[in-house]
Amino acid sequence: MKLDKREWPVLIVSGQFESYSDEGCRLRELMTQLTEVQECAVLTSRSYEDALHVFFSRADLGALVIDWDIPEDADEENRPPDGMLEKVRKRNPHIPVVLLTDKWGLEDLTADELKQVNDCIWKTSDTVEFLSGRINTLVEEYMQSVLPPFFGELAKYAQEYKYAWHTPGHMGGQGFLRSPAGVAMHKFFGENVFRADLSISVPELGSLLDHSGPVRDAEECSAKVFGSDITFYVLNGTSNVNQIIWRSQVLRDDIAFVDRNCHKSLNYAMVITDAYPIYMTPRRNKRGIIGPVRLSEFSEETIRAKIAADKLIPAELKGAKVKMSALTNSTYDGLCYNVVNIKKELKKSVENLHFDEAWYAYARFHPIYKDHYGMADDEANTEHPPIFCSQSTHKLLTAFSQASMLHVKNGSHTAINKDELNESYMMHGSTSPQYNMIASLDVATKMMGDNGESLLSDTILEAVHLRRKVARMAKDMADHGDWFFDMWQPKKVKCGKELVDFHEVDCDYLANTQEPWVLSKENNWHGFDDIEDGYVMLDPIKLTFTTPGLDEDGTMQPTGIPAAVVTNYLIRHRIVCEKTDYYSFLLLNSLGTTRAKQGALLSGLLAFKELYDRNAPLRRAMPDLYAVSPETYEKVGLKEHCQAIHEYFRDHELLDKMQAAFQVIPDQAMKPADAYHEVVRKNVEYVELGEMFEQRRIPAVMLVPYPPGIPVMMGGEMLNEKAKPIFDYLKARQAFENKFPGYESDIHGVERDCRDGKQFFKTLCVKR
Ligand SMILES: Cc1ncc(COP(=O)(O)O)c(C=O)c1O
Repeated sequence: MKLDKREWPVLIVSGQFESYSDEGCRLRELMTQLTEVQECAVLTSRSYEDALHVFFSRADLGALVIDWDIPEDADEENRPPDGMLEKVRKRNPHIPVVLLTDKWGLEDLTADELKQVNDCIWKTSDTVEFLSGRINTLVEEYMQSVLPPFFGELAKYAQEYKYAWHTPGHMGGQGFLRSPAGVAMHKFFGENVFRADLSISVPELGSLLDHSGPVRDAEECSAKVFGSDITFYVLNGTSNVNQIIWRSQVLRDDIAFVDRNCHKSLNYAMVITDAYPIYMTPRRNKRGIIGPVRLSEFSEETIRAKIAADKLIPAELKGAKVKMSALTNSTYDGLCYNVVNIKKELKKSVENLHFDEAWYAYARFHPIYKDHYGMADDEANTEHPPIFCSQSTHKLLTAFSQASMLHVKNGSHTAINKDELNESYMMHGSTSPQYNMIASLDVATKMMGDNGESLLSDTILEAVHLRRKVARMAKDMADHGDWFFDMWQPKKVKCGKELVDFHEVDCDYLANTQEPWVLSKENNWHGFDDIEDGYVMLDPIKLTFTTPGLDEDGTMQPTGIPAAVVTNYLIRHRIVCEKTDYYSFLLLNSLGTTRAKQGALLSGLLAFKELYDRNAPLRRAMPDLYAVSPETYEKVGLKEHCQAIHEYFRDHELLDKMQAAFQVIPDQAMKPADAYHEVVRKNVEYVELGEMFEQRRIPAVMLVPYPPGIPVMMGGEMLNEKAKPIFDYLKARQAFENKFPGYESDIHGVERDCRDGKQFFKTLCVKR
């Protein structure tokens, strides 16, 4: 496709647009020539600072033309700010930058500055026709480099207006125009979405399932940019990537070593592969936040001991190597592992390493995450097994929902054969892929390859600003005996030899240095007492807000504000959080986050505080909650409501019960696959929670309560005496829901029966 250069304006910055000097006249002539003859669009700026702002806020410029011929007497404002060219290049390494200068100006330019520019033209030599022609050529060349391989071909194809005689049946959108609902949809999405929705019958675009043509070119670009040997685009999310990876390497009765804190797709991967799972147990802090798996869990001795203790793995398989390990990196709360240490341990007993980086596709693009992601090129670790990474490009980079990537790094001695891997890929892929989704992966790659570091720098810096702002507000309010929300982050940061309060630390330092984010024993703001040195870091862009109610050591305070009340309230302010725990909630700062969004969040939190402090009636403060059960919430104020839930948590020891539940790995009565086979055989029935425990029943499906979103039980495990803490925890959650209508939480694997106005949990169990 050819981009329309009139939509990609040339930004000219000069202090001489109105000058009657020879230079001023030539500048005006140049602009006329550019617009009228070369048909470029032109934007102008008299101020260099303003031009930089425009440049940073618009990614659709075709070129930057900077007047470098500065009159001797020009004031600060009319001179390029220090490092202007460097800043421009850092943000966009490819945009044409042209300096307008004379030979004296040229002499003043350093070699470093000259390296950043594409052309220097003398305003008063050569004709304006010639000068504008040179600028236009640069713009046109740049336009051709903007589009990545697949998206470029797709857009070109869509713009050729061919008659389609193939699927999809709407044929370039025409089918939608035959009835009003279709027309409404066509108008809403716009024609290009439909024109670019093609079928594999279009040979020019290659094939996703064969990895050929422009699709292959795009996947190969992604491999380079994301640091893998093989990259496949996967269109049914990381849920599907995980199945592909596992199905490609793991067979029936293989041993798999899986993070208990894993996404359900990995549990399903064990079902489809029919493997024997052994589990890595993550730790938790007193707040209930899930921490990293201990490094000792990865040692050969621990893994052998887990296999030896497993009651299902038959004796003849106990000596086998683990076929695949799967670790969630980062954890949901943004703890990222130093993979160098982990690889060193796992390679002794595991044949393939899998890092599930669904929420972490961006790590490679900023030095702050050095060594903390699966595809890291760590020099120290030249010997390693094949490494697989699954990444939801759509979650925190810029792709359409469900667009994910599968990356493979070959092992030092074992290369992954692409054709063999593709057998598994094809088993899980549709023969009707969505081409717009493929294009979005291609574009996400191009964006990160072109200026990923600069984009991430902005995102991290924004997150750091917000973190500091909240820390300062919390501190100021605390100094006045008042309260505010805080953040789960270091309270003090080592700057040189001094420990400085977080809100006083320089933002650029925080946004560019790994050290402040690395968890250590000595600075235990995180609550993991036995944390290994240099083992995990907190991702600055994953923002865990804390609510009052817990001491540093996890003791319940007399008053508290459960996070669920806050996030329920924020939803009315159209602020939707990623995850709500008991006394914390998680927000994500991503490439799409803006300052305005952060401002809205803070004002939402302040509005909550104001309503809380004056114990505003729930009917007013949270009308949606009130409407769920007016009889329960009539005459209840927001503060009383928070306090009632807080006291309930305290009196019923909900946090302790949760801690205890997640420490148990229940006895396995059968493999996850066998439990699922009982579902297929229809040898399953719903059993209520109380009976499940009394009768020592075996759920056929996994039970995953949110929060925290980790399975408390896998299909095939038994709810027996050993698993009593799990029963106690689920029972406490059931009782809580009955006491506080409107707080029904999501528990995957649990349905509810309603009797006598009360809810009872029930689960699909294997028939006896
Ligand atoms: C750790 C982890 N892995 C995999 C997935 C699945 O990703 P997707 O939604 O792209 O299928 C998720 C989704 O939340 C996840 O949290």
